[in-house]
Amino acid sequence: MLTRWKRARANRKKKTDIYPPLLSQRLVLRMFELGDTADLYEYARSPIVGPMAGWTPHRSMEESRQVVHQFINHGDVWAIVEKRSGRVIGSIGLHADSKRDVPNTRMLGYALGEPYWGQGYATEAAEAVLKFAFEDLGCPLVSAFHNPQNDRSKRVIQKLGFLLEGRLRLAGTLPDGTVTDEDCYSMTRAEYATRERKTEPNLA
Ligand SMILES: CC(C)(COP(=O)(O)OP(=O)(O)OC[C@H]1O[C@@H](n2cnc3c(N)ncnc32)[C@H](O)[C@@H]1OP(=O)(O)O)[C@@H](O)C(=O)NCCC(=O)NCCS
Repeated sequence: MLTRWKRARANRKKKTDIYPPLLSQRLVLRMFELGDTADLYEYARSPIVGPMAGWTPHRSMEESRQVVHQFINHGDVWAIVEKRSGRVIGSIGLHADSKRDVPNTRMLGYALGEPYWGQGYATEAAEAVLKFAFEDLGCPLVSAFHNPQNDRSKRVIQKLGFLLEGRLRLAGTLPDGTVTDEDCYSMTRAEYATRERKTEPNLA
């Protein structure tokens, strides 16, 4: 029991591990700053962005400010900055995998402001994060999960070349309390090196 707990603890990212900035063709991924609060609130207050990712829409700038603080403290979520506008248009995280008790496995999560959907931004950001996870962090595996109703996220995960593991039943809770299944995907380092991507690389 203790060993299991120790391994889970080691698997959790240390607070002091701050991810470096990452660049892609149209995006800069960098750690959040307090000055990003207004941009975060702008997209996080939407009723259709957060719930699909498992969080409640933000009700105030103050709530967004607290979330920015959490992002800064945890150091495992990048702000997605659109180069053209300089705005923070979303976030992408590479977290400890809550479902795996293996050191250095990571879990991908992302959300974008609605005006920016459908332009390949999530896939582009995730490509940069996968490159970092496998080539710099040396992760053995990266996972991704989505609610079965989330067809957009499903498509992003498919385009990236993740392998579908299956459906974990009654594994997540939506902000309104509804319990949902989760579709589970993963990619190993070997699969990353040889995968068939369903999208063109967009790295700078
Ligand atoms: C999921 C999300 C990040 C996708 O961002 P995005 O930048 O639009 O993603 P991309 O443009 O890279 O790819 C979206 C794909 O979904 C497709 N798509 C769009 N609407 C769709 C729909 N209703 N059904 C199926 N596919 C759809 C797009 O056509 C595109 O695929 P294509 O390149 O083959 O045409 C964004 O919709 C979002 O933030 N949603 C709310 C938060 C969320 O769901 N986060 C993920 C939690 S698991």
